[in-house]
Amino acid sequence: MKTNRGGGDEALKFSSFFFMPERPRDYLVLFIRFSVIACLVVSVSLVLRATFLSSSPRDYSTTYGLRFTTVPQKSIALSPTGSIGPLNVSHILFCIAGAAETWIDRSQYTSLWWRNSTTRGFVWLDKPVNLPQNHSDVRFSIPIRVSDPGWTRFKFSSSRAAVRIARIIWDSYRLNLPDVRWFVMGDDDTVFFTENLVKVLSKYDHEQMWYIGGNSESVEQDVMHAYDMAFGGGGFAISHPLAARLANAMDGCLQRYFYFYGSDQRIAACVSEIGVPFTEERGFHQLDIKGDPYVYLSAHPLTPLVSLHHLVYLDPMFPNKNPIESLQNLMKPYSLDQNRILQQINCHEGKRQWSISISWGYSIQIYSYFLTAKELTTPLQTFKTWRSSSDGPFVFNTRSLPPDPCQRPVTYFMDGAEDVRFYGTKTRYSVADKNFGLCENNTEHSELTKVKRILVTSMKMDPEYWNKAPRRQCCEVMEGGRGKRKENEMLIRIRKCKSSERI
Ligand SMILES: *[C@@H]1O[C@H](CO)[C@@H](O)[C@H](O)[C@H]1NC(C)=O
Ligand SMILES: *[C@@H]1O[C@H](CO)[C@@H](O)[C@H](O)[C@H]1NC(C)=O
Ligand SMILES: *[C@@H]1O[C@H](CO)[C@@H](O)[C@H](O)[C@H]1NC(C)=O
Ligand SMILES: *[C@@H]1O[C@H](CO)[C@@H](O)[C@H](O)[C@H]1NC(C)=O
Repeated sequence: MKTNRGGGDEALKFSSFFFMPERPRDYLVLFIRFSVIACLVVSVSLVLRATFLSSSPRDYSTTYGLRFTTVPQKSIALSPTGSIGPLNVSHILFCIAGAAETWIDRSQYTSLWWRNSTTRGFVWLDKPVNLPQNHSDVRFSIPIRVSDPGWTRFKFSSSRAAVRIARIIWDSYRLNLPDVRWFVMGDDDTVFFTENLVKVLSKYDHEQMWYIGGNSESVEQDVMHAYDMAFGGGGFAISHPLAARLANAMDGCLQRYFYFYGSDQRIAACVSEIGVPFTEERGFHQLDIKGDPYVYLSAHPLTPLVSLHHLVYLDPMFPNKNPIESLQNLMKPYSLDQNRILQQINCHEGKRQWSISISWGYSIQIYSYFLTAKELTTPLQTFKTWRSSSDGPFVFNTRSLPPDPCQRPVTYFMDGAEDVRFYGTKTRYSVADKNFGLCENNTEHSELTKVKRILVTSMKMDPEYWNKAPRRQCCEVMEGGRGKRKENEMLIRIRKCKSSERI
């Protein structure tokens, strides 16, 4: 880089105003110069803004006039978050999209993960609604806000609600709450696994502009909307500086992108005007599939589970339970070992070469024959695409369900989880009928169907696990876990793989 030190020439001095200094004292000088310039720019733009607002159409003045009595003007200017230290859940402002008409039902999903003492955020509705006093969620529910009515002036082509929902980022940002590092958007049926969300977001610098989420599992949806876009139902995270820019740009974007279908698509278009790309994290699940999600969820990518969505439209995750009961069931093992929930571990039963796939805290599938690690991590297709209910394609590989019932796995679902002091956890799984048909005249398979219960032990996942290069863990069927003790029970231990071990 060119530096002009000690030149004495006026022109050179002027240009060195913008060059990187070499001594610390020069940094201070540079900082002061830039601060002066920044203040000038900010005050000029505030003056311009004020002039613009006072002469702008009535909608602006009524909306701003009413609300800005309590919200200072600087909420729309770019301000640093100011907080230091590691990210925790209280640094996240949840911005949930709801509707008055359905909130009484849908509030059950938010109440599953909402913690009054630590989580912050609001569900934004189109009009006020009171949960009845006898409603089970009334004491532990996310607070309700009504969207600023300014959204009604924007054009739309298909969904009117999409305008209001896209504008929630503006509604939320201008509350100007302290210490908010991330704005996390979600639907009223999005279930967040907040500890894992914190884990994932901690990898990113919240002082920079980030747009993080997941796209659709169904290729048809990604083609119709966009691949490089965070689908709203899976939830997505916007860092504070990006939220500031978006809040400023949103009304213009709503005008320009009135022809889009969804709120998430409007936000994606607005984010791309700012020049910020989409960052995909595979733990956000839009769940744009139909049918039985269990094999898909049992082959979770090697990344923390961040969110689930659409469960109201899918077969319940657990047999003989409704969607809410299923999630309540999943929250038990989650509370014991958050990092490990749904993580897939595969192994083979030594003598018989049975192939075992565990989705921790959720389900186990056992095949009465040998499958490779690659096959075990590819989900059987027990589901269809979201929009057209077709057999694919999806954004991941699937295996088709073998026509011969003897080639299909025997399935088990988690029905018990406990802490074991000084050791880790024990989770229990019981056999379930997944309508995979009756396998006759296959000795190996009938031997397998004798196993009715499985007990899995594991250490708690090292808190540093997700900060390192990911490696799937290993498992082994314990001696005496079958046959000797109880023929119908199997004992499996999950452990770190030995360095040269292969599955
Ligand atoms: C989160 O961190 C802040 C410091 O930035 C601290 O004041 C607060 O108590 C923490 N909250 C939780 C829930 O740990
Ligand atoms: C709450 O009360 C209303 C009427 O007062 C009743 O219709 C409803 O079933 C009650 N709900 C519950 C969960 O008890
Ligand atoms: C939880 O928060 C809601 C909404 O802010 C409030 O009505 C309720 O009293 C709180 N419950 C507890 C147990 O603190
Ligand atoms: C199983 O064996 C029985 C008796 O040998 C036979 O009748 C039956 O058709 C066989 N079932 C299948 C599915 O092969």
